[in-house]
Amino acid sequence: MSLICPICQAPLSAVDNGLACPANHRFDRARQGYYNLLPVQHKNSRDPGDNQAMVEARRRFLDGGHYAPLAKRLAELAAERSPRTWLDIGCGEGYYTAQLAELLPDADGYALDISREAVKRACKRAPQLSWLVASMARVPLADESCDLLASVFSPLDWQEALRLLKPGGGLLRMGPTRVHLMQLRQKLYDEVRDYDDQKHLELIPAGMRLAHSETISFPLPLADAHARADLLAMTPHGWRASAERRAAVIAESFEVTISIRYDWIEKI
Ligand SMILES: C[S@@+](CC[C@H](N)C(=O)[O-])C[C@H]1O[C@@H](n2cnc3c(N)ncnc32)[C@H](O)[C@@H]1O
Repeated sequence: MSLICPICQAPLSAVDNGLACPANHRFDRARQGYYNLLPVQHKNSRDPGDNQAMVEARRRFLDGGHYAPLAKRLAELAAERSPRTWLDIGCGEGYYTAQLAELLPDADGYALDISREAVKRACKRAPQLSWLVASMARVPLADESCDLLASVFSPLDWQEALRLLKPGGGLLRMGPTRVHLMQLRQKLYDEVRDYDDQKHLELIPAGMRLAHSETISFPLPLADAHARADLLAMTPHGWRASAERRAAVIAESFEVTISIRYDWIEKI
């Protein structure tokens, strides 16, 4: 096991119904099957991360299959690397994580999110993985323990990524291109903010390098009002745009561009 104590960083081992380190810091396994490795002193708020409403909207939207080609390609790209140990950082409610697990049946898989609401639901999708409520700024895994890190629509702590990766391992990042959801953004805002989809590349730390990029784009018809409402609720547009504009988006059917880039960033 690669887990370390979030308080003293010593290795954790399994004890009855939980984990413990040699200094006897103990962490119980929750009824649903995840471990809470986020000590209260590392929380910046009572309930950090995505809230229940966002998590449920994302779950309904993703389970509707609208982003299925994105998850399929993510899992294929991961499987091409044949990682022995992998971690999904900011796994949310686990839609993408479960598809990674399916194509990596023999690997040791971990997934973490700071939102307990998200992990509580996610862990049911693939009980064979180790699911953690934890912060990406202090990941409770040992140095150089991972061959592959996945980061999907999530923020990332690049120094932690560097620490966690074995040399030759890499980060598989999936994020929006500048035209992703363009028609939705045009309906919501008078002026659509340009999004620099290369910006994250400037953050790659010394010791890592971009080895591969590719994009997937397709038109997605949003014929169902529930799907339009969920798409709004699972993105920052759900609270950023005016109530009037949001209601107008939900009221009428339209087609939106889905456009995603994948980057494979290796540890040298
Ligand atoms: C946009 S969601 C993406 C979730 C999932 N990867 C997906 O695409 O469905 C971003 C996720 O990052 C999590 N998150 C935000 N800050 C975090 C942190 N400091 N540590 C761990 N997770 C964090 C949120 O709780 C949320 O679930």
